[in-house]
Amino acid sequence: MTIPYNKQDNMNPRVMHDEHSIQLKAWQIASAGPHQLMIYPRLIKELQQILTWTTLLAEYGCGTGFVMEAIINHKPVLPYRNFLGLEINSESRLEARKLINLDRAGVIGCNLTNSHFPDNMFDVSICSTILCHFKPQPLRQALFHCIRMLSPGGTMLICVPSMEWPLHKETDYVILEELGDDAFVAVRHGNSHQLRQCYYSRKVYQTFLSNAGFKIVKSKNLLIPDTDEIGVRYCHHAGMSLFYFFVVERPLEYKIPVIEPDDRYISNVI
Ligand SMILES: C[S@@+](CC[C@H](N)C(=O)[O-])C[C@H]1O[C@@H](n2cnc3c(N)ncnc32)[C@H](O)[C@@H]1O
Repeated sequence: MTIPYNKQDNMNPRVMHDEHSIQLKAWQIASAGPHQLMIYPRLIKELQQILTWTTLLAEYGCGTGFVMEAIINHKPVLPYRNFLGLEINSESRLEARKLINLDRAGVIGCNLTNSHFPDNMFDVSICSTILCHFKPQPLRQALFHCIRMLSPGGTMLICVPSMEWPLHKETDYVILEELGDDAFVAVRHGNSHQLRQCYYSRKVYQTFLSNAGFKIVKSKNLLIPDTDEIGVRYCHHAGMSLFYFFVVERPLEYKIPVIEPDDRYISNVI
């Protein structure tokens, strides 16, 4: 498996301030079908098995708070001690704070590729459609911070868009940049609310996760369900992979590297 490595990789997160909040909210409302029917139930099913009343839970890249709201308002109530959303965009944070009940929850500014949060802080974390915002080098940096912020033995749930969806000829995506084998940046043709995203195959994601030190516990394609509720854009494509879903753990024996991943250190390795 070749991991994409591109010397042009920007060290900064690819998603910039003006791409967010209003556009993101509009996009999330527009794509509520797949999120509500495919992502939230999957996250909640996993959380039901691992959360306890002492769990410190985090969502990285919580955006305007839709996933947090679904978890916080789920009935029966999910147990956790505290739930923090970490989000780079200040307008999205304000939106999220309006949406979620702040009792035992909060939304804090953080750049996941350069996080200031302490090691071993969270017992369980969620990355719901955030890792697809990163080109290879920022993705390595984000995963470094994800694993170091997770407590030893802690679990992270990951959901990302599948590569199969934009490659399907009927779904009308434009590939903007090849990133390497099975990896590219693409945008949906003619849709101003649709943000550019990075698409990696499930195997490439697995390689990034393993290289970051995670143990992969589950790795699945989430297939579009055969129901009209999913919305007109998706209902003709039942059975197609729309997201990948991973459950990963920080192994007990994992030692946090002293040096962060940085292209000065990886360029000779790959
Ligand atoms: C597609 S949205 C997903 C929002 C939410 N997790 C969900 O699934 O509904 C991706 C979010 O990640 C945030 N994000 C992107 N880069 C980030 C970074 N470097 N650090 C923290 N958040 C980031 C974006 O601002 C955006 O809110």
